[in-house]
Amino acid sequence: MTDNFEQTTPPEANSASRKLTKGLNRRRMILGGASVAGVTATVFAGRAQANTQKAPAPQTTVNPKGKFAGKVVLITGATSGIGEATARAFAKEGAIVHFCGRREALGEKIAQEITAQGGRASYQKADVRSEQDVKSFIDICVQK
Ligand SMILES: NC(=O)c1ccc[n+]([C@@H]2O[C@H](COP(=O)([O-])OP(=O)(O)OC[C@H]3O[C@@H](n4cnc5c(N)ncnc54)[C@H](OP(=O)(O)O)[C@@H]3O)[C@@H](O)[C@H]2O)c1
Repeated sequence: MTDNFEQTTPPEANSASRKLTKGLNRRRMILGGASVAGVTATVFAGRAQANTQKAPAPQTTVNPKGKFAGKVVLITGATSGIGEATARAFAKEGAIVHFCGRREALGEKIAQEITAQGGRASYQKADVRSEQDVKSFIDICVQK
């Protein structure tokens, strides 16, 4: 008994069958590729959609008579993260915040946002690894 396709099938049937199989394989590959592309496109579309959703701007109601009303708060490194949250929290409680960081655009943006919400905050570009920057940071805060 043989299960060899070439030997048991007439040559013309064999050739037709090969064409059919070839066609099917091609179709499978195309369809398979299309579904992979479809899934990929969906994933990317999902990501693109996620990226267009902006985080809501923090809503802060400043209390000018809050726990830190009239107090001056100096914060090193408040252009993001814990420092930024601290600057916003102190300003919300009525403090006069002066903060630094190296990323000027972020620092200015945060100071503007706090001010727009009725708080008091100023940003100064300063690198805490520089003695001169730290001295200037404190001097300007005292002057203010
Ligand atoms: N987030 C947490 O859950 C967590 C938990 C435990 C410990 N910590 C630690 O707490 C610290 C702060 O974390 P974070 O999440 O708030 O980090 P972050 O978002 O990277 O904030 C770091 C802040 O420090 C500033 N900074 C870094 N180097 C500076 C430099 N040379 N001069 C002036 N400012 C500088 C950065 O501003 P510029 O880049 O603009 O200079 C930025 O405002 C890190 O040491 C972190 O490992 C964080």
